[in-house]
Amino acid sequence: MKTYAQMNAQELEAEYQSVQLKYNAFKARGLSLDMSRGKPSSAQLDLSMDMLDTISSDRKLRTSAGMDARGYGQLDGIPETRQLFAEILGVDPDWILIGGNSSLNMMFDCISWAESLGVMGSTPWAKLDKVKFLCPVPGYDRHFAICELFGIEMVNIPMNSDGPDMDLVEQYVSQNESVKGIWCVPMYSNPTGITYSDEVVRRFAALKPAAKDFRIYWDNAYCVHHVTDTPDRLLNIFEECRKQGSEDLVYEFSSTSKISFSGAGIALMAASERNMADLKAKRSIQTIGPNKINQLMHTRYFRSSQGILDHMEKHRALIKPKFEAVFQALDRELAPLGIAEYTHPNGGYFISFNTLPGCAKRVGELCGEAGVVLTAVGATYPYGKDPEDRNIRIAPTFPPVEELELALELFCLSVRMASCEKFLSA
Ligand SMILES: Cc1ncc(COP(=O)(O)O)c(C=O)c1O
Repeated sequence: MKTYAQMNAQELEAEYQSVQLKYNAFKARGLSLDMSRGKPSSAQLDLSMDMLDTISSDRKLRTSAGMDARGYGQLDGIPETRQLFAEILGVDPDWILIGGNSSLNMMFDCISWAESLGVMGSTPWAKLDKVKFLCPVPGYDRHFAICELFGIEMVNIPMNSDGPDMDLVEQYVSQNESVKGIWCVPMYSNPTGITYSDEVVRRFAALKPAAKDFRIYWDNAYCVHHVTDTPDRLLNIFEECRKQGSEDLVYEFSSTSKISFSGAGIALMAASERNMADLKAKRSIQTIGPNKINQLMHTRYFRSSQGILDHMEKHRALIKPKFEAVFQALDRELAPLGIAEYTHPNGGYFISFNTLPGCAKRVGELCGEAGVVLTAVGATYPYGKDPEDRNIRIAPTFPPVEELELALELFCLSVRMASCEKFLSA
């Protein structure tokens, strides 16, 4: 089979006509399919339903320390829940702060507090002329939205196959006092699915920031979310920081949004004692305490970090066929034509897809017109601006496999059409 680059104008025109016919037939079916957001399917949410039976009106709602979980207090979370997540993240339980139902909310709070109150006594960012964040791209749109809301200038950092371009990161961080943070999704990154290499994690731990209020926003949302039989492994950044004496550099975040319930899970942060003291001083004004009944339910249900890992195997069984369906469709329909690049992650929720330069928006348009919603094209870049108009985030978890296969069929036709149009107009 010839690639598009090898076809002459006549061959491309014939290809375009034939793809367009199929696309129009698809459009006529009036489908409504959604491949846009990285959400657990309802079958995945069903996996945790037994958790609700861990509490009832006739069971005592007491924590391991004998505290009544129904009342106020225990700002940092109940001991057994902190222990559970300390095991998952490989930190001391004293370094864990359990939040509400959303880690994004905790990230937002950290930025909002830094803006209005400063970090450990530093000048509040809102009083500075310029605050910049480094944003590995493609990345998570909601990270970028927080920066945009607060007027923080975002600097694109290219992602390599082993993590962000660390030469660039080191240069910006060490030379520029206005650089106050970097967004990182170190394991099964959103959307590339890559995991940072040991070398990259070590270089993060060894950063020497010009700004003393610089923090690495280590969003470990997918720390136990393996998909294949060959899971990735992420070095523990806090252990590397300890070797460098740089533990204060990192705020780590995670949640059970994609372990238990995505609207009613548990969010958490891990940070050094000094950072924790600073964060808890602020949080203690914000709330009298978190939802301890939910913490109790989660801990009674999962029991141990092994319990969480076993539970994630059930998710894996549901998600794996969906990732495989995507790879099969892309490998069959697009790879031989030389018009697509895509990642092959071992876990997480996404596949990052690159069209030929200048084609991604057109693919989004074609899919939308025929009833398949994709993540907004451009959303994986700060300000929604993908400089090369190439990147599309594929989120396979939510739709049932049959719907996903249908959506992918249309997606592939749309990529072929947009690519033909590009070659024909060249
Ligand atoms: C990298 C990343 N962080 C955070 C979140 C949201 O987490 P939470 O539900 O805990 O707010 C998501 C959800 O897609 C995500 O992909």
